[in-house]
Amino acid sequence: MAYSYVSDISGKAGKKVSVRGWVHRKRESGGIVFIVVRDRSGIIQASVKKDLVDAKSWKDAQDASVESSIELSGTLKEDKRAPTGLEIEAEKVHCISISEPFPITEYQSTELLLDKRHLWLRSTKMINIMKIRSHVFRYLREFNDKKGFYEITPPLITKSAGETGADMFEVNYFGQKAYLTESSQLYAEAMIYALDKVYTFAPSYRAEKSRTIKHLAEYWHLEMEAAHYDLNKLMKFEEQMVSHVAQRLLKNDTDTLEALGVERAKLEVIKPPFRRMTYEQALEELNQKGKSLKWGDDLGVDEEKLLTANEKKPAFVMYWPKELKPFYVPVNRKDERTSMSVDLQAPLGHGEIIGASERIWRKDELMSRFKEFEEAKGIKFNMENYEWYIDLRRYGSVPHAGFGLGVERMIKWFLGLDHIRDAIPFPRMINRIAP
Ligand code: 4AD
Ligand code: MG
Repeated sequence: MAYSYVSDISGKAGKKVSVRGWVHRKRESGGIVFIVVRDRSGIIQASVKKDLVDAKSWKDAQDASVESSIELSGTLKEDKRAPTGLEIEAEKVHCISISEPFPITEYQSTELLLDKRHLWLRSTKMINIMKIRSHVFRYLREFNDKKGFYEITPPLITKSAGETGADMFEVNYFGQKAYLTESSQLYAEAMIYALDKVYTFAPSYRAEKSRTIKHLAEYWHLEMEAAHYDLNKLMKFEEQMVSHVAQRLLKNDTDTLEALGVERAKLEVIKPPFRRMTYEQALEELNQKGKSLKWGDDLGVDEEKLLTANEKKPAFVMYWPKELKPFYVPVNRKDERTSMSVDLQAPLGHGEIIGASERIWRKDELMSRFKEFEEAKGIKFNMENYEWYIDLRRYGSVPHAGFGLGVERMIKWFLGLDHIRDAIPFPRMINRIAP
């Protein structure tokens, strides 16, 4: 028997069709069982009439409870009363596994839906989000591949902190202290000497205690690194990449976007160029909007929200104070208080989605930045763990630059989700590690 997805049978009225999926809804009236079957592509109603099916099919139809797995075949008919205007008049019904009473009913608390995440992922909303997620991954890879970048695979267990090091999950590595990586950047940097232009697509881990709508403890991080790139080249690349994903979604994912209530106009405008402002301009703008920020302050969730609340396109914020960026970011020669860094802020107040910078490529400069950093922050780097990273500046160093995109943040913005946790199947957050 060849099974079709529900979405593929719409033009087949009058023909025999077979579908398999799960019982979405069910009711019985006057010798007919109506079963709405759900598969990954949609729902279809089937009517099972006692006189038209064999005894086993009739029993299975009666036994099948909501969320039972089921397969059935019959003749497809047009019927205005059915939820999609089509109905399968069943000839054979086979219940693969009868479901126990399903714990999720129509109105449920957010907490219960998170506890039962493994079941909630079957909901229409989550199915559609997961489809978009899969395609966002595909379009991002597609763009990087097209640009001539090699995908590389970094280690996720490490001894070297990529960012501040303050927010890392500790791992007992055969008795040694190690960490789950917070960024694959340092490893990507090592590989530009072999492959010139590379990207990694891997999870990053942040043990941040922040309980916000945009923080995950485990998120998927697309990081690119390229020899001979600078801030300008990075920004061009980012604009094109973000726009590529938006335009590909518009072209290929029309129905899914519509089902999620995403307006096409929202994605249509995402085309280069994106607005560019300096950190200082961002502060001024925020202060005009009622904040009282002073030079050196970081932008928190509220500030980011305010900054782009009325923007339709993403905006770059360039040249951040050097104290706000990690040890590998070079100082801006034109204003020594600032650094060669740029963040991309999503519009509509969704906040930072990409962090980017040039990298210090001269050994002496790197060594003195490590020292400055230790003094400014009162921390001590374990230099043993960075020897290999310093080596990259010893043997044929080149100027280079790269960025990291938080994929769930991008999805949250594209789909207008209230919380980042819905952009990933099994969210890891400060108060949640199961299921
Ligand atoms: O700005 P971040 O910390 O920069 C880096 O990790 C660099 N090493 C990247 C690079 O240049 N290769 O993180 C980069 C992006 C952020 O812009 C944000 O989108 C995302 O990663 N991100 C998070 N996403 C979800 N949950 C969190 N806790 C995140 N922290 C950062
Ligand atoms: Mg950042």
